[in-house]
Amino acid sequence: GFNDHISVESNGGFDCPKNKQPFIIGVAGGTASGKTTVCNQIISQLHDQRVVLVNQDSFYRSLNDDQLVNVHEYNFDHPAAFNTELLLSCMEKLRRGHPVNIPSYDFKSHKSIEPSRLVNPADVIILEGILVLHDFHVRNLMNMKIFVDIGLCVFPAVFAYLLCSLNSDVRLARRIQRDTVERGRNIQNVLDQYSRFVKPSFEEFILPSKKFADIIIPRGGDNDVAIDLIVQHILTKLGQHDLCKIYPNINVIFSTFQI
Ligand code: ADP
Ligand code: C5P
Repeated sequence: GFNDHISVESNGGFDCPKNKQPFIIGVAGGTASGKTTVCNQIISQLHDQRVVLVNQDSFYRSLNDDQLVNVHEYNFDHPAAFNTELLLSCMEKLRRGHPVNIPSYDFKSHKSIEPSRLVNPADVIILEGILVLHDFHVRNLMNMKIFVDIGLCVFPAVFAYLLCSLNSDVRLARRIQRDTVERGRNIQNVLDQYSRFVKPSFEEFILPSKKFADIIIPRGGDNDVAIDLIVQHILTKLGQHDLCKIYPNINVIFSTFQI
């Protein structure tokens, strides 16, 4: 890849040149919409490239004792639940070609836990999370912005409304399954949290961030064509960087041919 010159040992303090910075992709969408599934498919198809996945979940603020007592009053779907300053500084370092420590988050204790994860710089960095398209500064870091949807709202308004409710129903069903099995919750808590915080915040913060996306993927991880197009685009962008490295005057050559 075009960042082969960067290694953990050799980059002590030096930023990588601007035209060799990694390709940063943001993947947003509602809870259980298929963000992780889409990211994993992109990563598996980019097998020859160095790719790292950063989850916005890693930047959840730890709850203090008072907040833990009233955990059912806490809105984990509000932008303030994330430490966005830390997320920005980690992403900025990765963009400049430096290794970073990404915190580990435990959904059962609602706290950051040790050990953190050492992430080395890579050719492609994917940042995935419900609100990665919400903050202007985070969006500004991205070369490509993706929003994962479940349904496709191409119908007239009334059908679009029904389809959007269906969209939330599918996500809620997946979320009940996941949170009871993997995140130590009971069904009643999941349903209460969903109607009280998850759904209203989706409508207030996540859905409006869809307009910033370059690409909206309907049917999430089932959409092989969309994944394939995205992967081809990334490979083209990385290829251009490689050519520029080998032939610094490549743009002159191309424009000469156009004449
Ligand atoms: P997110 O990262 O947006 O929370 P995930 O990709 O982890 O979503 O998917 C949430 C759950 O839904 C997972 O259990 C996953 O296996 C399941 N899932 C994801 N995409 C599909 C799909 N297209 N069909 C059926 N189940 C899916
Ligand atoms: O993986 P996913 O995108 O679904 O993760 C985000 C969701 O995790 C949010 O909708 C939030 O309600 C939930 N969450 C939680 N408990 C925490 C932290 C986040 O239920 N401690």
